[in-house]
Amino acid sequence: MGEQGGRAPRDDAAWWRGAVIYQVYVRSFADGNGDGTGDLTGVREHLEYLRDLGVDAIWFNPFYVSPLADGGYDVADYRAIDPAFGTLEQAEQVIREALALGIRTIIDIVPNHVSDQHPWFQAALAAAPGSPERARFWFRSGKGDAGEQMPTHWVSSFQGSTWTRTTNPDGTPGEWYLHLFTPEQPDLNWDHPDVRREHEDILRFWFDRGVAGVRIDSAALLVKDPSLPEVPEYPVPGAHPHVDRDELHDVYRAWRAVADSYDGSRVLVGEVWLDDAERFARYLRPDEMHTAFNFDFMARPWSAKELRDSIDMTLAAHRPVGAPATWVLSNHDVTRPVTRYGRADSSFDFGSKRFGTPTDLALGLRRARAAALLTAALPGSLYVYQGDELGLPEVEDLPADALQDPMHFRSGGVDPGRDGCRVPLPWSGSTPPFGFSPSGSTSPAWLPQPESWASLTVEAQASEPTSTLSLYRAAFALRRAEPDLGDGPMQWLDARDLGDDAVLAFRRGPRFACVVNLGPVAVDLPPHTAVLLASGELRDGRLPADTAVWLRTTPASPEFPVPSE
Ligand code: GLC
Repeated sequence: MGEQGGRAPRDDAAWWRGAVIYQVYVRSFADGNGDGTGDLTGVREHLEYLRDLGVDAIWFNPFYVSPLADGGYDVADYRAIDPAFGTLEQAEQVIREALALGIRTIIDIVPNHVSDQHPWFQAALAAAPGSPERARFWFRSGKGDAGEQMPTHWVSSFQGSTWTRTTNPDGTPGEWYLHLFTPEQPDLNWDHPDVRREHEDILRFWFDRGVAGVRIDSAALLVKDPSLPEVPEYPVPGAHPHVDRDELHDVYRAWRAVADSYDGSRVLVGEVWLDDAERFARYLRPDEMHTAFNFDFMARPWSAKELRDSIDMTLAAHRPVGAPATWVLSNHDVTRPVTRYGRADSSFDFGSKRFGTPTDLALGLRRARAAALLTAALPGSLYVYQGDELGLPEVEDLPADALQDPMHFRSGGVDPGRDGCRVPLPWSGSTPPFGFSPSGSTSPAWLPQPESWASLTVEAQASEPTSTLSLYRAAFALRRAEPDLGDGPMQWLDARDLGDDAVLAFRRGPRFACVVNLGPVAVDLPPHTAVLLASGELRDGRLPADTAVWLRTTPASPEFPVPSE
């Protein structure tokens, strides 16, 4: 592999500040062995696709040994690959072969909890209350005369309670243990030195195998108030019993020291869901994480005002700590942008997901394409979830017996869950599994693909110049070639000069501008010498509704100034 053209990875220490990072959900990317589940062989077979797409790094969702109670976020062994996905040798091979093509690897570390099948938790269950084995978790007696009431009323991120009661060897009810997610994901006690040591060791294990970074799952949840109080109605920032506690910063400072002890820039990327932008930015101080996902932007509706507010707020929050922003349109947890932007309410909120929400997919696709050019032009790094480059919609009519996500089940079936964004990728051909599994394999894909995806396969889109795949490829090639894209300053242009306040327009450097029309009518373009790329066809030189364009601009003038820091 790699003969026709490795590409040297960007070798500067700041590669991560402007990188395009592609998220691979291994189970649904490509199935190399024909069992209907994606695997590392499938990833290896498609590395050249990722090189041609023009990404700088891959982020792999967890691929470790796991009973898959939560899609692999229930890890039983952090140093071994689940046999469904491959072997450790194959992971090492993928890391090496990707790098030979110029692509770095970021892995997913899950520090808040382990699988209930993890040896530590099994040992804790087998040990007595008060034992050292139980001290690595949150085991507590229940309240009430017979300990029949759970220790707190904390609500799970997956709805429902956060405590499960154990059973003693003699069959009587025992202690309770804490799980912010499912009962199969017991929370670790981050006050315990074993827990800290073990995770630093896991980081070393993977850095030693050449990974360039880690994505830190549920990064703001690890530390708990050991007195386990109830959650106050209006928690003061930093005083919530299990979210964003100040002690977390020591954990990430220690991780940063581990990362910095390696050659090259090994990066820490946080999954940090916090409304408070200033509290969020604290995780990005120079001796903590490098970057964190910008969920504020992702959750906003398709509105120029909303998105501009989010961009301004994001850049203002990052500036004092010197960290670059990240731009994320989706991931394996949220509704695909093509579907979300095709709805009357195009914001994202876990709590409001419902079956049967009316959706205009053609509108959603136009907007998702425009959003792709917008985010690829903003300053900072960019995350692309597999399949978004194909314009895949959320699959909302999966058969009930195919659904697997605990979010669906724990909501009593009200929340459709996250399976709809995890359907295996369509690569080629005109019938399922669309090249996801090798030809002739008899096991169906683990989640069924819609027949209508025949027109969305990589094969169908690769040679079609107006396809979403071609748009993404062109955008990433330009982004790589344009010196002012990626990390760096931006400057808003006064969109009112363009005749509409539903327009976002900004400059990157003296020769490049991005203009996005989020309104319902076509608008004029600012002065330019060439159209570099557009998410839809321009009409009479005007930018239609829900379309974005990248322009080669005329030199700076007072009306059209050059950005400065
Ligand atoms: C993160 C992951 C999500 C997982 C949860 C619990 O939010 O992105 O998929 O279910 O953590 O680990």
